[in-house]
Amino acid sequence: MVVLVTGSSGQLGQSLQYLAPNYQEIQFVFCTSADLNITNIAQCHAVFKQYQPDYCINAAAYTAVDKAESEPEKAHIINVIGAKNIAEVCKAYNTVLLHISTDFVFNGTKKSPYTEEDIPNPTGVYGKTKWEGEIAVQQTWEKHFIVRTSWVYSQFGHNFMKTMLRLASERDTISVVNDQIGTPTNAVDLADALVQIILTDNRQTTTDNFGIYNFSNEGQCSWYDFAKKIFEINKTQIELKAIPTSSFPTPAQRPAYSVLDKSKIKNTFGLSIKNWDACL
Ligand SMILES: NC(=O)c1ccc[n+]([C@@H]2O[C@H](COP(=O)([O-])OP(=O)(O)OC[C@H]3O[C@@H](n4cnc5c(N)ncnc54)[C@H](OP(=O)(O)O)[C@@H]3O)[C@@H](O)[C@H]2O)c1
Repeated sequence: MVVLVTGSSGQLGQSLQYLAPNYQEIQFVFCTSADLNITNIAQCHAVFKQYQPDYCINAAAYTAVDKAESEPEKAHIINVIGAKNIAEVCKAYNTVLLHISTDFVFNGTKKSPYTEEDIPNPTGVYGKTKWEGEIAVQQTWEKHFIVRTSWVYSQFGHNFMKTMLRLASERDTISVVNDQIGTPTNAVDLADALVQIILTDNRQTTTDNFGIYNFSNEGQCSWYDFAKKIFEINKTQIELKAIPTSSFPTPAQRPAYSVLDKSKIKNTFGLSIKNWDACL
């Protein structure tokens, strides 16, 4: 089975590369943005023609949440046109698409975990383009899994955990917001869940489970709680202050609450998901 991964130098892409040796039954093809620019449809066709993948994990995205507010066209081209291109080429080669989306499609006014049926209502450019990317995939190719995730971190790339550890080495005090609630997701756990979806789907011949799924680690916390746990585990000496979002204005407005309900992915694929703090 051939699984092609776009955006392979990102956090999720590198996490999939980290896991790949555990899955000898899968031949992974890892494509960086130089190997496969998802905004270039001709290149998409050429790469798919060469590898004829059974599955494609679209881990490529424009992920700079704040920068997207001043670069909406760039975010749109990658997150909407790029997603559409990948869905089109998947359709041409009968490749099942696993497309990754985000909790930022929601505005965060809900008080209980978001299910796959909740209607998106993004507050910023990034969330809007990711939602439009989902719609482009849905309208283009039915053989898709859209996996929404949240607060992704890992030993790879840029993320909140690494930023906290870097700041702690430069400062004596760090202030972190405590009124945005969500769930951190270890990118390696997300990568493993995607592989489980592929293995389950590949075994099935008559039924299909295509559609939207939520995946994050279990539990919930604020960014302040997340930072506190990062420092606790690393035995970092730092004064950590809890502040409200109003004291830390950012170009993009973030959802105040974005915990995802994982019942559907657990029930459909038999996944057991670790708590966010245990896997940190
Ligand atoms: N990070 C989070 O907290 C978070 C939360 C929720 C959902 N997600 C979603 O999870 C997925 C993976 O995120 P991540 O954290 O792994 O992102 P990431 O580390 O920012 O990686 C994104 C990758 O996409 C590549 N890319 C950008 N433009 C491209 C293009 N035109 N063609 C091909 N590749 C391109 C980048 O390559 P270059 O480095 O070469 O530009 C990079 O390797 C994304 O769909 C993201 O929206 C992330």
